[in-house]
Amino acid sequence: MTKPSFHIKDINLAEKGRLRIQWAAQEMPVLNLLEKQFREERPLEGMRVSACLHVTSETGNLMRILQAGGADVVLTASNPLSTQDDVAAALVAFHEIPVFAIKGEDNKTYYQHLEAALEHRPNITMDDGADLVSTLHAKHQELLGNVIGGTEETTTGVIRLKAMAKDGALAYPIIAVNDAMTKYLFDNRYGTGQSTLDGIIRATNILLAGKVFVVGGYGWCSRGIAMRARGMGANVIVTEVDPLRALEATMDGFRVMPMQEAAKLGRIFVSATGDIHVFDRHHFEVMQDGAILANSGHFNVEINLPVLEEIAVSKRQIRDFLDEYTLADGRRLYVIGEGRLVNLAAAEGHPSSVMDMSFANQALSAAYMRQNAKTLQPQVYTVPEEIDKRIARMKLEAMDINIDTLTEEQIHYLNSWKSGT
Ligand code: ADE
Repeated sequence: MTKPSFHIKDINLAEKGRLRIQWAAQEMPVLNLLEKQFREERPLEGMRVSACLHVTSETGNLMRILQAGGADVVLTASNPLSTQDDVAAALVAFHEIPVFAIKGEDNKTYYQHLEAALEHRPNITMDDGADLVSTLHAKHQELLGNVIGGTEETTTGVIRLKAMAKDGALAYPIIAVNDAMTKYLFDNRYGTGQSTLDGIIRATNILLAGKVFVVGGYGWCSRGIAMRARGMGANVIVTEVDPLRALEATMDGFRVMPMQEAAKLGRIFVSATGDIHVFDRHHFEVMQDGAILANSGHFNVEINLPVLEEIAVSKRQIRDFLDEYTLADGRRLYVIGEGRLVNLAAAEGHPSSVMDMSFANQALSAAYMRQNAKTLQPQVYTVPEEIDKRIARMKLEAMDINIDTLTEEQIHYLNSWKSGT
Protein backbone atom coordinates (compact mmCIF):
# COMPACT_ATOMS: atom_id res chain seq x y z
CA MET A 1 0.00 0.00 0.00
CA THR A 2 1.37 3.45 -0.86
CA LYS A 3 1.57 5.90 2.00
CA PRO A 4 -0.96 8.73 1.96
CA SER A 5 0.53 11.99 0.67
CA PHE A 6 -1.49 13.89 3.25
CA HIS A 7 -3.78 13.09 6.15
CA ILE A 8 -6.48 15.60 7.02
CA LYS A 9 -10.07 15.48 8.19
CA ASP A 10 -11.98 16.45 5.06
CA ILE A 11 -10.79 17.97 1.80
CA ASN A 12 -14.28 19.43 1.25
CA LEU A 13 -13.51 22.00 3.96
CA ALA A 14 -10.91 23.59 1.68
CA GLU A 15 -12.93 26.57 0.44
CA LYS A 16 -13.80 27.63 3.99
CA GLY A 17 -10.15 27.30 4.94
CA ARG A 18 -9.04 29.35 1.96
CA LEU A 19 -11.29 32.22 3.01
CA ARG A 20 -9.97 32.06 6.57
CA ILE A 21 -6.38 32.14 5.35
CA GLN A 22 -7.24 35.21 3.25
CA TRP A 23 -8.96 36.91 6.18
CA ALA A 24 -5.92 36.31 8.41
CA ALA A 25 -3.59 37.67 5.70
CA GLN A 26 -5.29 41.06 5.97
CA GLU A 27 -3.84 41.40 9.46
CA MET A 28 -0.40 40.14 8.48
CA PRO A 29 1.20 43.03 6.58
CA VAL A 30 4.79 42.16 7.45
CA LEU A 31 4.39 38.64 6.14
CA ASN A 32 2.74 40.04 3.00
CA LEU A 33 5.72 42.30 2.36
CA LEU A 34 8.08 39.39 2.91
CA GLU A 35 6.10 37.31 0.46
CA LYS A 36 6.93 39.81 -2.26
CA GLN A 37 10.60 39.74 -1.34
CA PHE A 38 10.68 35.95 -1.06
CA ARG A 39 8.98 35.56 -4.44
CA GLU A 40 11.65 37.73 -6.07
CA GLU A 41 14.72 36.50 -4.21
CA ARG A 42 13.82 32.83 -3.57
CA PRO A 43 15.98 32.56 -0.40
CA LEU A 44 14.76 29.02 0.32
CA GLU A 45 15.12 27.64 -3.20
CA GLY A 46 15.55 23.87 -3.07
CA MET A 47 15.15 23.61 0.71
CA ARG A 48 12.91 20.87 2.06
CA VAL A 49 11.20 22.25 5.14
CA SER A 50 9.31 20.06 7.62
CA ALA A 51 7.17 22.30 9.79
CA CYS A 52 5.55 21.15 13.02
CA LEU A 53 3.31 24.06 13.98
CA HIS A 54 -0.24 24.68 15.11
CA VAL A 55 -2.20 24.33 11.88
CA THR A 56 -4.05 27.65 11.87
CA SER A 57 -4.94 30.27 9.30
CA GLU A 58 -1.83 32.22 10.37
CA THR A 59 0.37 29.18 9.85
CA GLY A 60 -1.32 28.77 6.47
CA ASN A 61 0.03 32.17 5.53
CA LEU A 62 3.52 31.31 6.75
CA MET A 63 3.46 28.17 4.62
CA ARG A 64 2.51 30.26 1.57
CA ILE A 65 5.46 32.58 2.17
CA LEU A 66 7.96 29.75 2.61
CA GLN A 67 6.69 28.25 -0.63
CA ALA A 68 7.01 31.63 -2.36
CA GLY A 69 10.62 31.65 -1.19
CA GLY A 70 11.29 28.38 -2.99
CA ALA A 71 10.85 25.92 -0.10
CA ASP A 72 9.31 22.50 -0.54
CA VAL A 73 7.14 22.39 2.58
CA VAL A 74 5.25 19.76 4.55
CA LEU A 75 3.24 20.58 7.65
CA THR A 76 2.29 18.52 10.68
CA ALA A 77 0.46 19.64 13.82
CA SER A 78 2.38 20.58 16.96
CA ASN A 79 -0.54 19.64 19.20
CA PRO A 80 -3.31 17.04 18.77
CA LEU A 81 -6.05 19.58 19.49
CA SER A 82 -4.85 22.74 17.75
CA THR A 83 -5.54 22.00 14.09
CA GLN A 84 -8.05 24.02 12.09
CA ASP A 85 -9.28 21.29 9.76
CA ASP A 86 -10.47 23.70 7.08
CA VAL A 87 -7.05 25.36 6.91
CA ALA A 88 -5.39 21.95 6.61
CA ALA A 89 -7.72 21.16 3.71
CA ALA A 90 -7.05 24.48 1.97
CA LEU A 91 -3.28 24.02 2.15
CA VAL A 92 -3.60 20.63 0.51
CA ALA A 93 -6.20 21.63 -2.08
CA PHE A 94 -5.02 25.09 -3.11
CA HIS A 95 -1.33 25.16 -2.25
CA GLU A 96 -0.31 21.55 -2.82
CA ILE A 97 1.24 21.44 0.63
CA PRO A 98 1.12 17.98 2.23
CA VAL A 99 -0.50 18.37 5.63
CA PHE A 100 -0.69 15.70 8.32
CA ALA A 101 -3.04 17.00 11.00
CA ILE A 102 -6.55 16.34 12.26
CA LYS A 103 -8.10 18.17 15.18
CA GLY A 104 -8.66 15.67 18.01
CA GLU A 105 -6.18 13.09 16.70
CA ASP A 106 -4.95 10.68 19.35
CA ASN A 107 -1.34 10.60 20.53
CA LYS A 108 -0.49 7.66 18.28
CA THR A 109 -1.74 9.49 15.18
CA TYR A 110 0.03 12.65 16.32
CA TYR A 111 3.36 10.80 16.31
CA GLN A 112 2.55 9.04 13.02
CA HIS A 113 2.05 12.49 11.55
CA LEU A 114 5.45 13.60 12.84
CA GLU A 115 6.96 10.55 11.18
CA ALA A 116 5.22 11.46 7.92
CA ALA A 117 6.70 14.96 8.08
CA LEU A 118 10.15 13.49 8.66
CA GLU A 119 9.80 11.25 5.61
CA HIS A 120 10.15 14.51 3.69
CA ARG A 121 13.85 14.33 4.66
CA PRO A 122 14.01 17.94 5.83
CA ASN A 123 16.89 20.31 5.29
CA ILE A 124 15.26 22.69 7.75
CA THR A 125 12.99 21.83 10.68
CA MET A 126 10.50 24.40 11.91
CA ASP A 127 9.20 23.31 15.28
CA ASP A 128 6.80 24.49 17.98
CA GLY A 129 7.55 22.61 21.20
CA ALA A 130 10.51 20.55 19.87
CA ASP A 131 8.61 17.28 19.33
CA LEU A 132 9.77 17.11 15.70
CA VAL A 133 13.40 17.76 16.60
CA SER A 134 13.39 15.29 19.47
CA THR A 135 11.72 12.57 17.35
CA LEU A 136 14.26 13.20 14.60
CA HIS A 137 17.17 12.89 17.02
CA ALA A 138 15.74 9.91 18.92
CA LYS A 139 14.46 7.79 16.05
CA HIS A 140 15.85 9.03 12.75
CA GLN A 141 19.53 9.72 13.13
CA GLU A 142 19.94 8.62 9.52
CA LEU A 143 18.18 11.84 8.50
CA LEU A 144 20.39 14.18 10.51
CA GLY A 145 22.94 14.46 7.69
CA ASN A 146 20.36 16.25 5.50
CA VAL A 147 19.53 18.90 8.07
CA ILE A 148 21.31 22.25 7.95
CA GLY A 149 19.36 23.77 10.84
CA GLY A 150 16.03 24.56 12.38
CA THR A 151 13.88 27.13 14.10
CA GLU A 152 11.84 26.88 17.29
CA GLU A 153 8.69 28.86 17.97
CA THR A 154 7.95 28.54 21.66
CA THR A 155 9.40 28.92 25.17
CA THR A 156 8.94 25.25 26.07
CA GLY A 157 10.67 24.14 22.87
CA VAL A 158 13.59 26.49 23.44
CA ILE A 159 14.03 25.14 26.98
CA ARG A 160 14.05 21.55 25.67
CA LEU A 161 16.50 22.38 22.88
CA LYS A 162 18.86 24.22 25.21
CA ALA A 163 18.82 21.14 27.46
CA MET A 164 19.70 19.01 24.40
CA ALA A 165 22.54 21.38 23.48
CA LYS A 166 23.84 21.32 27.06
CA ASP A 167 23.90 17.51 26.97
CA GLY A 168 25.76 17.60 23.64
CA ALA A 169 22.75 15.85 22.09
CA LEU A 170 21.74 18.54 19.60
CA ALA A 171 23.07 17.72 16.13
CA TYR A 172 22.40 20.99 14.29
CA PRO A 173 21.89 24.71 14.94
CA ILE A 174 18.52 26.07 15.95
CA ILE A 175 17.31 29.65 15.93
CA ALA A 176 15.08 30.38 18.92
CA VAL A 177 12.37 32.46 17.28
CA ASN A 178 10.62 32.62 20.65
CA ASP A 179 13.44 34.72 22.07
CA ALA A 180 13.14 37.51 19.51
CA MET A 181 11.67 40.62 21.10
CA THR A 182 9.23 41.00 18.21
CA LYS A 183 8.00 37.54 19.20
CA TYR A 184 7.76 37.16 22.96
CA LEU A 185 6.85 40.74 23.83
CA PHE A 186 3.80 40.57 21.57
CA ASP A 187 2.83 36.96 20.81
CA ASN A 188 3.49 35.60 24.31
CA ARG A 189 2.01 38.61 26.10
CA TYR A 190 -0.78 40.14 24.01
CA GLY A 191 -1.43 37.03 21.91
CA THR A 192 -1.67 34.62 24.83
CA GLY A 193 -3.51 37.21 26.91
CA GLN A 194 -6.29 37.67 24.40
CA SER A 195 -6.53 34.14 23.00
CA THR A 196 -6.54 32.48 26.41
CA LEU A 197 -9.48 34.57 27.57
CA ASP A 198 -11.10 33.88 24.20
CA GLY A 199 -10.75 30.11 24.79
CA ILE A 200 -12.13 30.31 28.32
CA ILE A 201 -15.06 32.42 27.22
CA ARG A 202 -15.90 30.28 24.17
CA ALA A 203 -15.75 27.08 26.24
CA THR A 204 -17.76 28.36 29.20
CA ASN A 205 -19.47 31.66 28.26
CA ILE A 206 -18.78 32.65 31.85
CA LEU A 207 -18.80 36.28 33.00
CA LEU A 208 -15.33 37.26 34.13
CA ALA A 209 -16.27 40.48 35.88
CA GLY A 210 -16.13 40.00 39.62
CA LYS A 211 -14.73 36.46 39.49
CA VAL A 212 -11.58 35.46 41.32
CA PHE A 213 -9.19 34.50 38.52
CA VAL A 214 -5.97 32.71 39.45
CA VAL A 215 -2.99 32.84 37.08
CA GLY A 216 -0.14 30.38 37.58
CA GLY A 217 3.20 32.05 36.80
CA TYR A 218 4.17 35.56 35.79
CA GLY A 219 6.25 34.97 32.66
CA TRP A 220 5.35 36.77 29.46
CA CYS A 221 2.36 34.53 28.72
CA SER A 222 0.99 34.57 32.24
CA ARG A 223 1.32 38.32 32.61
CA GLY A 224 -0.62 38.77 29.39
CA ILE A 225 -3.39 36.59 30.80
CA ALA A 226 -3.39 38.41 34.15
CA MET A 227 -3.49 41.81 32.45
CA ARG A 228 -6.38 40.90 30.18
CA ALA A 229 -8.36 39.14 32.92
CA ARG A 230 -8.08 42.30 35.02
CA GLY A 231 -9.25 44.27 32.01
CA MET A 232 -12.43 42.18 31.99
CA GLY A 233 -13.07 43.04 35.62
CA ALA A 234 -11.82 39.84 37.21
CA ASN A 235 -10.18 39.89 40.60
CA VAL A 236 -6.79 38.44 39.67
CA ILE A 237 -4.43 36.45 41.89
CA VAL A 238 -0.95 35.55 40.62
CA THR A 239 1.18 32.67 41.93
CA GLU A 240 4.94 32.55 41.35
CA VAL A 241 8.10 30.76 42.41
CA ASP A 242 10.51 33.47 41.24
CA PRO A 243 10.92 36.32 43.76
CA LEU A 244 11.56 38.97 41.10
CA ARG A 245 8.53 38.07 39.08
CA ALA A 246 6.44 37.83 42.24
CA LEU A 247 7.57 41.33 43.12
CA GLU A 248 6.72 42.58 39.64
CA ALA A 249 3.26 41.02 39.87
CA THR A 250 2.76 42.65 43.27
CA MET A 251 3.77 46.08 42.01
CA ASP A 252 1.67 45.59 38.89
CA GLY A 253 -1.18 45.51 41.38
CA PHE A 254 -1.99 41.80 41.61
CA ARG A 255 -2.50 39.78 44.76
CA VAL A 256 0.34 37.25 45.06
CA MET A 257 0.16 34.12 47.21
CA PRO A 258 0.99 30.39 47.09
CA MET A 259 -1.26 28.23 44.92
CA GLN A 260 -2.42 26.30 47.97
CA GLU A 261 -4.08 29.49 49.28
CA ALA A 262 -5.25 30.68 45.88
CA ALA A 263 -6.83 27.27 45.25
CA LYS A 264 -9.40 27.97 47.97
CA LEU A 265 -10.32 31.36 46.57
CA GLY A 266 -10.40 31.00 42.80
CA ARG A 267 -13.26 30.35 40.42
CA ILE A 268 -11.13 30.28 37.25
CA PHE A 269 -7.59 28.88 37.17
CA VAL A 270 -5.13 29.17 34.28
CA SER A 271 -1.45 28.39 34.18
CA ALA A 272 1.24 29.07 31.62
CA THR A 273 4.37 28.08 33.50
CA GLY A 274 5.72 25.32 31.24
CA ASP A 275 6.04 23.06 34.29
CA ILE A 276 4.13 20.02 35.48
CA HIS A 277 1.36 19.76 38.07
CA VAL A 278 0.81 23.43 38.79
CA PHE A 279 -2.67 22.22 39.75
CA ASP A 280 -2.35 19.01 41.73
CA ARG A 281 -4.26 16.74 44.12
CA HIS A 282 -3.80 19.00 47.16
CA HIS A 283 -5.21 21.92 45.14
CA PHE A 284 -8.19 19.94 43.80
CA GLU A 285 -8.96 18.93 47.39
CA VAL A 286 -9.60 22.54 48.46
CA MET A 287 -11.07 24.09 45.31
CA GLN A 288 -14.61 25.41 45.36
CA ASP A 289 -17.51 23.67 43.66
CA GLY A 290 -17.64 25.00 40.10
CA ALA A 291 -13.94 25.86 39.76
CA ILE A 292 -12.80 25.98 36.13
CA LEU A 293 -9.29 24.91 35.16
CA ALA A 294 -7.40 25.68 31.98
CA ASN A 295 -3.85 25.38 30.72
CA SER A 296 -2.14 27.84 28.42
CA GLY A 297 1.32 26.27 28.55
CA HIS A 298 2.60 24.23 25.62
CA PHE A 299 2.08 20.72 27.03
CA ASN A 300 -0.95 19.24 28.79
CA VAL A 301 0.96 18.63 31.99
CA GLU A 302 0.17 21.69 34.08
CA ILE A 303 -3.11 20.24 35.39
CA ASN A 304 -2.53 16.83 36.98
CA LEU A 305 -5.31 15.19 34.99
CA PRO A 306 -4.44 11.56 35.81
CA VAL A 307 -4.98 12.40 39.51
CA LEU A 308 -8.20 14.27 38.78
CA GLU A 309 -9.44 11.26 36.78
CA GLU A 310 -8.50 9.04 39.72
CA ILE A 311 -10.28 11.03 42.43
CA ALA A 312 -13.38 11.85 40.37
CA VAL A 313 -16.40 9.60 40.86
CA SER A 314 -17.82 10.63 37.50
CA LYS A 315 -16.94 12.62 34.41
CA ARG A 316 -19.06 13.96 31.60
CA GLN A 317 -18.63 16.39 28.74
CA ILE A 318 -20.97 19.24 29.54
CA ARG A 319 -20.19 21.55 26.60
CA ASP A 320 -17.78 21.50 23.67
CA PHE A 321 -14.26 21.42 25.11
CA LEU A 322 -15.53 21.38 28.69
CA ASP A 323 -15.43 18.33 30.96
CA GLU A 324 -17.10 18.15 34.35
CA TYR A 325 -15.41 16.05 37.05
CA THR A 326 -17.53 15.27 40.11
CA LEU A 327 -15.59 14.44 43.25
CA ALA A 328 -16.67 12.13 46.08
CA ASP A 329 -17.86 15.05 48.23
CA GLY A 330 -20.08 16.35 45.41
CA ARG A 331 -17.87 19.25 44.30
CA ARG A 332 -17.62 19.69 40.54
CA LEU A 333 -14.41 20.80 38.84
CA TYR A 334 -14.35 21.76 35.17
CA VAL A 335 -11.44 21.31 32.75
CA ILE A 336 -11.27 23.09 29.41
CA GLY A 337 -9.90 21.37 26.29
CA GLU A 338 -8.56 18.28 28.07
CA GLY A 339 -5.96 20.49 29.72
CA ARG A 340 -4.36 21.21 26.36
CA LEU A 341 -3.51 24.72 25.17
CA VAL A 342 -6.83 26.44 25.90
CA ASN A 343 -6.36 29.16 23.33
CA LEU A 344 -5.93 26.73 20.46
CA ALA A 345 -8.13 23.90 21.70
CA ALA A 346 -11.19 26.03 22.48
CA ALA A 347 -10.47 29.11 20.34
CA GLU A 348 -8.36 29.96 17.29
CA GLY A 349 -4.97 30.75 18.81
CA HIS A 350 -3.35 34.14 18.81
CA PRO A 351 -4.77 36.80 16.55
CA SER A 352 -3.10 37.20 13.16
CA SER A 353 -1.60 40.58 13.94
CA VAL A 354 0.83 39.18 16.52
CA MET A 355 1.47 35.99 14.54
CA ASP A 356 2.50 38.34 11.73
CA MET A 357 5.64 39.22 13.68
CA SER A 358 6.26 35.72 15.05
CA PHE A 359 6.07 34.22 11.59
CA ALA A 360 8.09 36.99 9.98
CA ASN A 361 10.78 35.87 12.44
CA GLN A 362 10.27 32.27 11.31
CA ALA A 363 10.54 33.12 7.62
CA LEU A 364 13.57 35.38 7.98
CA SER A 365 15.28 32.98 10.40
CA ALA A 366 14.86 30.12 7.93
CA ALA A 367 16.40 32.28 5.20
CA TYR A 368 19.20 33.31 7.58
CA MET A 369 19.82 29.67 8.45
CA ARG A 370 20.08 28.82 4.78
CA GLN A 371 22.72 31.51 4.29
CA ASN A 372 24.70 31.01 7.48
CA ALA A 373 24.30 27.35 8.49
CA LYS A 374 27.93 26.53 7.70
CA THR A 375 29.19 29.03 10.24
CA LEU A 376 26.79 27.98 13.02
CA GLN A 377 27.40 25.32 15.66
CA PRO A 378 24.85 22.80 17.00
CA GLN A 379 23.58 25.30 19.53
CA VAL A 380 20.53 27.42 20.17
CA TYR A 381 20.91 30.92 18.72
CA THR A 382 18.80 34.00 19.18
CA VAL A 383 17.32 35.72 16.15
CA PRO A 384 19.91 38.24 14.87
CA GLU A 385 19.14 41.71 16.19
CA GLU A 386 18.95 43.22 12.71
CA ILE A 387 16.11 40.84 11.83
CA ASP A 388 14.27 41.63 15.06
CA LYS A 389 14.61 45.40 14.53
CA ARG A 390 13.67 45.14 10.88
CA ILE A 391 10.44 43.35 11.75
CA ALA A 392 9.60 46.00 14.37
CA ARG A 393 10.19 48.73 11.78
CA MET A 394 8.11 46.96 9.16
CA LYS A 395 5.26 46.46 11.61
CA LEU A 396 5.28 50.13 12.65
CA GLU A 397 5.33 51.20 9.02
CA ALA A 398 2.40 48.91 8.23
CA MET A 399 0.53 50.46 11.16
CA ASP A 400 1.33 53.92 9.77
CA ILE A 401 3.19 54.92 12.92
CA ASN A 402 6.21 57.21 12.61
CA ILE A 403 8.87 57.49 15.27
CA ASP A 404 11.70 59.90 15.98
CA THR A 405 15.37 59.46 15.08
CA LEU A 406 18.30 60.64 17.16
CA THR A 407 19.99 63.88 16.08
CA GLU A 408 23.75 63.88 15.50
CA GLU A 409 24.09 65.84 18.73
CA GLN A 410 22.14 63.18 20.65
CA ILE A 411 24.18 60.34 19.16
CA HIS A 412 27.35 62.14 20.12
CA TYR A 413 26.07 62.69 23.68
CA LEU A 414 25.16 59.02 24.10
CA ASN A 415 28.60 57.98 22.92
CA SER A 416 30.55 60.27 25.18
CA TRP A 417 31.33 59.81 28.85
CA LYS A 418 32.71 63.28 29.48
CA SER A 419 29.58 65.34 30.05
CA GLY A 420 27.92 64.82 33.44
CA THR A 421 26.21 67.06 36.00
N1 ADE B 1 0.36 29.72 18.54
C1 ADE B 1 -0.52 30.47 19.20
N2 ADE B 1 -1.44 31.00 18.37
C2 ADE B 1 -1.13 30.56 17.12
C3 ADE B 1 -1.69 30.76 15.85
N3 ADE B 1 -2.76 31.52 15.67
N4 ADE B 1 -1.12 30.15 14.82
C4 ADE B 1 -0.02 29.36 15.00
N5 ADE B 1 0.56 29.14 16.17
C5 ADE B 1 0.02 29.74 17.23
